[in-house]
Amino acid sequence: FGLGACGSSSESTEAATTEAEAASTEVEATTEAAESAAADLSGSKYLSDGELTVGLNATFPPFEYVGDGTDNFEAVTSNENNVTGFDVAMMNEIGKRLGVSVVIEDMDFDGIVPAIGTKIDCGATGMTITDERKEAVNFSDPYYDATQGVLLPIDSEVKTEDDLKACKAIGVQGGTTGETVARGINDGAVVSVKSFNQAVLDLVNGKDDAVVIDQVPGEAFLSQYSDKIQLVEGSTFNFDVEQYGIAMPKDDEVMLNAINGALADMKADGTYDQLLEQYVNSYEAE
Ligand code: ARG
Repeated sequence: FGLGACGSSSESTEAATTEAEAASTEVEATTEAAESAAADLSGSKYLSDGELTVGLNATFPPFEYVGDGTDNFEAVTSNENNVTGFDVAMMNEIGKRLGVSVVIEDMDFDGIVPAIGTKIDCGATGMTITDERKEAVNFSDPYYDATQGVLLPIDSEVKTEDDLKACKAIGVQGGTTGETVARGINDGAVVSVKSFNQAVLDLVNGKDDAVVIDQVPGEAFLSQYSDKIQLVEGSTFNFDVEQYGIAMPKDDEVMLNAINGALADMKADGTYDQLLEQYVNSYEAE
């Protein structure tokens, strides 16, 4: 007893007479919100141990990739490979707000959903919310809008879906929505590999005619190989809009609410936009 679920209703009825008072009330409310979020985790099947293990595949700049080690994520305790990017920063911030330490597991993309609830507590890896995945996992509220795009050799003439139908080799990362899109257009041409780094290398080296990849990571790879490849936007091919979410075990409503709460708080107070600016909008290839 004592962990009251009710908020600070007495505070909200107090009329703040000066801006300073209003500001300090806000700070108190924020602190209380953070404390109650941390207290809530006692009922979480996966987070009550104080640790949030995050699965990702670090071949997806600027959301997750192997960086130069200069980023300092204090809550990330297992980051041997210097994995960095927006999702790492976002999960680090969520961990801080929930009072748990964050551990990063870099793994194959197609292994992430099956590992949620056993090897890892969640997946934060530019993962599109899909009905099929929802059968296996819970998703947080959407945190980023995306579409698939198409990387092509710089001299390629591919411009339409029909052109993609004529391609001999279309590279994708196994298990991605890009793979689903490519198979829908030209199943026989799909070359499914474990990492986007590999798919892009195959394109740069002339083994593939195209790579289907989320637009923003496509731009990140384009900036690394701008003399060899080009990027055509998904809207040209009428690809659907997708939304990224954090994938979690189905049997932990407490975790779902806590992560959604932290996400909403960091959107409301500007932290989310600041991280987006720092990691996505100012991304420069290393
Ligand atoms: N958004 C796509 C999907 O959910 C691709 C995600 C790939 N992420 C990665 N870290 N490699 O299937």
